[in-house]
Amino acid sequence: MPKIIDGFVRMCSDGYKLGFNEANGGNASYRMTQEDVDICEKELGFDREASWTNLDVHVKLLNGEYFIVTASGSLMRNVELETESSIGIVQIDDAGAAYRILWGLRDSKPTSEFGAHLLSHCVRKIASGNVDRVMYHLHPESLIAMTYVRPLEDAVFSKLIWRSMTEAVMVIPEGLGVVEWLVPGSNDLARMTCSKLERYRAVVWAHHGLFVTGSSFDDAFGRAHTIEKSASIYMKVLSSGQEILQDISDDSLRKVCDKLGLKINEELLKG
Ligand code: 13P
Ligand code: ZN
Repeated sequence: MPKIIDGFVRMCSDGYKLGFNEANGGNASYRMTQEDVDICEKELGFDREASWTNLDVHVKLLNGEYFIVTASGSLMRNVELETESSIGIVQIDDAGAAYRILWGLRDSKPTSEFGAHLLSHCVRKIASGNVDRVMYHLHPESLIAMTYVRPLEDAVFSKLIWRSMTEAVMVIPEGLGVVEWLVPGSNDLARMTCSKLERYRAVVWAHHGLFVTGSSFDDAFGRAHTIEKSASIYMKVLSSGQEILQDISDDSLRKVCDKLGLKINEELLKG
């Protein structure tokens, strides 16, 4: 398999192994570079005669682009074993209104969240200056648990995640967006997620999961993993029933960011 496919598969397998992706929970997509496309076409062979299927979103900004994407209903647990039916490579047409399957997705179709993924790629392609290429959706249990007991506000979640583990602010100095519960795969969920992705690289879906982006599999997966670890520390502290005697101060968060040349989102600290 081409290295880029191996990287995608590894992210899916790791998501399952860490408990982020039970059953068919979660999905992922990667916006390919021209080099990825050339290597994959050479090594895997593309079906350039494949027919086009209309999208229910319009993504002119992504016209002609290629994506690796998980199949709807596929199990992250099985991606390594049944790669060609669990993931595939698709291309968007010139109008940004349809896709065709060039490889994989055998007897299947892209994730039910494909619309949300494509619209998110549009937003992050611009917001990141063409740097962000990965979208990863997961069901991390501690973060989901937090959405039952804390107000669904960006500032509340950002500060709790930043303060619960020192490394957290390093992966999301801009903070974290929070979206109320909405139907999975719906246009509303896609639209709300996109509005948050203009400012953030991680969006919490209340009572459902997390949606992250990043420049690489390591970047996106590491962001998700760190956020969930911080959430699990917070929930453990909360569950201990003990009074919180100290945590990481705003100034300490600023110092961590200063040391790494990052800019913390001061608006959220004030909020
Ligand atoms: P898919 O199997 O269609 O990707 O859906 C999984 C999911 O987590 C929806 O939110
Ligand atoms: Zn989900």
